[in-house]
Amino acid sequence: MSVMNRHKFLEKHTGPLIASILVVVAIGGLIEIAPLFYVENTIEEVDGVRPYTPLELAGRDIYIREGCYTCHSQMVRPLRDEVERYGHYSLAAESMYDHPFQWGSKRTGPDLARVGGKYSDDWHRQHMIDPRSLVPGSIMPPYAFLQEKKLNTDNIMGKMRANKRVGVPYTEEQIAGAKHDLLMQAGSLYAEDYSGFEERWDGVSTPDIPNKSTITEMDAIIAYLQVLGTMVDFSTFEIETASGRDDAQSEDVASHQATDEASEG
Ligand code: HEC
Repeated sequence: MSVMNRHKFLEKHTGPLIASILVVVAIGGLIEIAPLFYVENTIEEVDGVRPYTPLELAGRDIYIREGCYTCHSQMVRPLRDEVERYGHYSLAAESMYDHPFQWGSKRTGPDLARVGGKYSDDWHRQHMIDPRSLVPGSIMPPYAFLQEKKLNTDNIMGKMRANKRVGVPYTEEQIAGAKHDLLMQAGSLYAEDYSGFEERWDGVSTPDIPNKSTITEMDAIIAYLQVLGTMVDFSTFEIETASGRDDAQSEDVASHQATDEASEG
């Protein structure tokens, strides 16, 4: 049987054809995937990136539940226009504790990967209650009901356990203290016992919550939005590349931003 005849055989018999396709595709898959199991770290670790606190994690789940990702990406691409608009491009390490990641695939609204600290908590609250009261042309839907919904804190330990199972390095103390630390970060009046929060969540800031006796879903989602893009200190961060191209690029962007600021002021 010549090669062409063998091929004809495959073309006429779907079973063997499917089996052969699987073999060929599997070779490509193995070449791409297998090496990842043998390198120590596929994601380069970056200082400052930490797992979400219980309050931020709860907020993140609301972000996912409400489908914010259908309009917002969380992935600044290394393209000049994006870096100028949003800031340093996203690093793989920044979403290493995101399960599932929120990179998104569509921007109806702006990218949110660097939105943390850009506005005050009050701004976010007002913007979520009525986006058009702050941004007149906005087509973002209002989420005022989040302000009325008490945050369910009963399942927070389970959420952290689930994250731990897929590789987020939560400690047993962090999981055991989850509910306490959630109320603690929210500054809730009910969290009279401050013990251990600082040790478990070093350097975590607390959001401005108007009614601290009832933590709402709004409080949690704001805590989440405010941490986005703030973990890595990009003023001291440098990516090493063989060609040094990145350096040249970021200097370029920096000088551009400087001129922008000068012309604005
Ligand atoms: C239908 C699309 C849509 C959905 C869904 C949506 N947004 Fe937006 N969002 C927008 C648009 C458009 C803007 C830009 C106008 C504005 O600021 O209101 C925006 C702006 C924002 C901003 C300000 C960003 C900046 O840098 O100025 C934040 C924060 C935000 N959205 C958060 C959220 C959150 C949280 C959710 C889910 C609860 C959400 N959005 C759901 C469309 C959407």
